[in-house]
Amino acid sequence: MSSRGIRTSDRVLIVGQTGKGKTTLARYLAEQLQPIRLIVFDPKAELAYPGVAPARSVPELERAMNAPVVHYVPASLERDELEAACELVWTTRGPYLWHIDEASELTQPGYCPRGLRLCATQGRAQHKLLLVLTQRLAESHPVFRSQSEHIIMFTPPPVELDLKAIAGNVRREARELELALAELHAEYGDYSHLWYVRATDELRRCAPLPLEGATAPAPAVAEAPPTSPHEDAPTTADEQEAQQSAA
Ligand SMILES: Nc1ncnc2c1ncn2[C@@H]1O[C@H](COP(=O)(O)OP(=O)(O)OP(=O)(O)O)[C@@H](O)[C@H]1O
Ligand SMILES: [Mg+2]
Repeated sequence: MSSRGIRTSDRVLIVGQTGKGKTTLARYLAEQLQPIRLIVFDPKAELAYPGVAPARSVPELERAMNAPVVHYVPASLERDELEAACELVWTTRGPYLWHIDEASELTQPGYCPRGLRLCATQGRAQHKLLLVLTQRLAESHPVFRSQSEHIIMFTPPPVELDLKAIAGNVRREARELELALAELHAEYGDYSHLWYVRATDELRRCAPLPLEGATAPAPAVAEAPPTSPHEDAPTTADEQEAQQSAA
């Protein structure tokens, strides 16, 4: 099972300013990766899943754990609660997709709940796919950027501190990333993103995800409506341009 080259044994990090499309992309990828079980940690209490009542404590999380979709909204961000909740997920059998909607709420540069850190470093063999999002990379634990097979950066360029934090992990200079993100944003606007693939050391330019019913921000997207966004949608901005000029 894979979506846009993501395998169930991968770790994926999504970075971007508020409102730039991180959660939308994460939900799209999770949908494409179904029927893998989905476990969502939603510390900002922003998400909703039809027919799924959010678990708001560790005992509630434990009771919900066998469902196909588990939505956890921590009642507090106290370390005791985070440790217990993350331990519970880590000790649950894979395969599953664990979506952390804001890493800087659960971790700090010097602290990460043990279960979450173990999942990042050792979850591959058990097909525990980790999808970690953050607005504030430099304020999150470094294990996500060092371990991720895919690092996705939304335009416009994040703050300088975040660019510096990520540069070494994608084997590029911070300045090079900043320029690439600024250029992509000038061309495609909001929701465009750079997608680093560690296995091939590629930095793919991606146009905004074509959303059903959304006003497409760039002509390349509007003129290339995919029948199946997952398999048929052009993945990169360059592919979309090629399709357009061929039309
Ligand atoms: N590709 C897209 N095309 C059109 N609209 C989009 C796209 N991606 C996201 N949006 C819209 O932008 C808004 C913000 O998106 P989203 O919630 O995914 O941002 P976010 O990066 O997760 O923000 P935050 O950091 O505040 O959680 C939503 O209303 C969403 O529908
Ligand atoms: Mg979000």
